Amino acid sequence: MDAEFREYDPFRDSEAARVLLNAVFTSAAVSPEGWARWTAQDFTAPVAIVDGQIVGAIPLFRRSYRVAPGAEVTAWVENRVGVAEPLRDQGLGSGMQAAAKQFLQGRGDVLLVYRGAERTKGYRFYEKNGLYDVSYPLAATIEPANEAAPGTRWVTQDEFLAHSALWHDIFTACYGRFGGYPARHPGYLRDIIGTVTWQEAMRQEFSYAVVEDGGRAAGYMVLGLRKDVFQVMELAVLGGSVELARRLLAAARGRGGPVRCYATHGCLLAAAVRRLGAKLPPRENGAMMLMVHVLDIASTGRKVWRDVSALRDVEVRVWTPEREGVIHSVAAPKRALAIELKEHMLARLLMRRLDVARAVAEERVTLCGDEPGDAEALSDALDPCHWVYHPIDYL
Ligand SMILES: CC(C)(COP(=O)(O)OP(=O)(O)OC[C@H]1O[C@@H](n2cnc3c(N)ncnc32)[C@H](O)[C@@H]1OP(=O)(O)O)[C@@H](O)C(=O)NCCC(=O)NCCS
Repeated sequence: MDAEFREYDPFRDSEAARVLLNAVFTSAAVSPEGWARWTAQDFTAPVAIVDGQIVGAIPLFRRSYRVAPGAEVTAWVENRVGVAEPLRDQGLGSGMQAAAKQFLQGRGDVLLVYRGAERTKGYRFYEKNGLYDVSYPLAATIEPANEAAPGTRWVTQDEFLAHSALWHDIFTACYGRFGGYPARHPGYLRDIIGTVTWQEAMRQEFSYAVVEDGGRAAGYMVLGLRKDVFQVMELAVLGGSVELARRLLAAARGRGGPVRCYATHGCLLAAAVRRLGAKLPPRENGAMMLMVHVLDIASTGRKVWRDVSALRDVEVRVWTPEREGVIHSVAAPKRALAIELKEHMLARLLMRRLDVARAVAEERVTLCGDEPGDAEALSDALDPCHWVYHPIDYL
C-alpha cells in the first residue's frame, strides 16, 4: 500500500483529521469549534495519507512535564491515536510514529502516552514503537457508603476557583517532592477545567470539596462524574495528611455512587484508599501506564541531571543497542563514563525512575570507564523520584 506520512497542516487537514478521529473515538466526539480551540496552540500531529485522503492521525499536545523537583522536560503527549478501521495492521500507525520522531527533532524531549491493558494490541502498538512504561497508577474503586467526613464541605465552582492560588499552594506543599505531572501555575485548575477535553470530548460534571483543619482550609478535591462513575480528578492536602485525604474520599463516597481513585506506589492516595478499606486492584485490569519515548537524549539529559560534585568533570554518555548520546557534557572533561542499557531502561533512567547503583548491581545496566563510587554518584545525579498521577491532567 502506498502511504504518505507527513506533519499535520492546520489549513489543509483540520476537518479531515477531526472527522476521522471522531469516527474512531465515537464516544468522545469533538465539534469543529472544539477542534479549532483544542489545536490552536501547542499542537501538532503526524498524519497518514492514502489515495489523497487522511486515514490516520496521532494528535500531539505539547506540555511542560515535571520529571522530578527542579527537572522539567518538554513532552509531546499522544492522545486519540487513530487509523481508519479497514486500514489497520498495515503499518500506518507505526509509520506515523516514525514520522513524528523525525519532524519533532529539536522541538521536544520526549513522547508520552497514557495507556492501559498490557495484553491488548493497542498497548503493544506503543511498545513496538519505542514507548515504555515508567509509572503504573492503579484505579481503586471505593464503594458508596454513608461515612462521617468531619471538616469537609462542598462548594460551588465559582467559590472554588476564587481561591485558585490557595489550592495551588496546597498542591505544591502536597506534591512538591513528586514528579509525573504537567508543570503547575496558580491558574492551572481553572485553565484545565475549561479545556475541550473536559468541556466537550470527555465532558464531566465537576464538584468541589474542601476540608478544613483548625478553622483553615487544609485541602481540596475535584470530583468528576461521567457516565454514572465518580472519579477523583485531583486531591491535595496540607502536609500530605492521610487523615485529611481520607475525609475528602469519605465525602466523595457519600455521593451515592462508586468512586474511582487513581493511586501510585508511595503516594498519599494509596494510603488513604487503604484506610477506607478499599483495595488496590491487580495491574491486569486496574492499571494505567505512563509510557515514554526519549526523543532527544542530550536535551533530556541536560534537564534531568542533578549537579553532583563527584561527576562534575566527567562526561557521561548513554548507549543502547539502537543509539547513543551525551547526558552530561562538560567543557574540559577529565574522563568519560558510559551507561549501557536497553531502550526501555533508558526511558526509566531519564524519567528519574531508575536507581543506577541498584541496576548495576543487578546487571540490568553496565558501566564503561567507571571508577569506584561512580554508580552511587550516578544514583545521586539521577536520583529516582516518586511519580503521582492526577486524572485532571489527562490533557
Ligand atoms: C492503535 C492503532 C492506531 C494502530 O495503528 P495500525 O496502523 O493498526 O498500527 P500498525 O499497523 O503500525 O501496527 C499494528 C500491527 O500491525 C503489524 N504490522 C505493521 N506493519 C504491517 C504490515 N505491513 N503488514 C502486516 N502487519 C503489519 C504490526 O506489527 C502490529 O502487529 P501486532 O498487533 O501484532 O503488534 C489502530 O489500531 C487504531 O486506530 N485502533 C483504534 C483506536 C485505538 O485503540 N487507539 C489507541 C489508543 S488511544
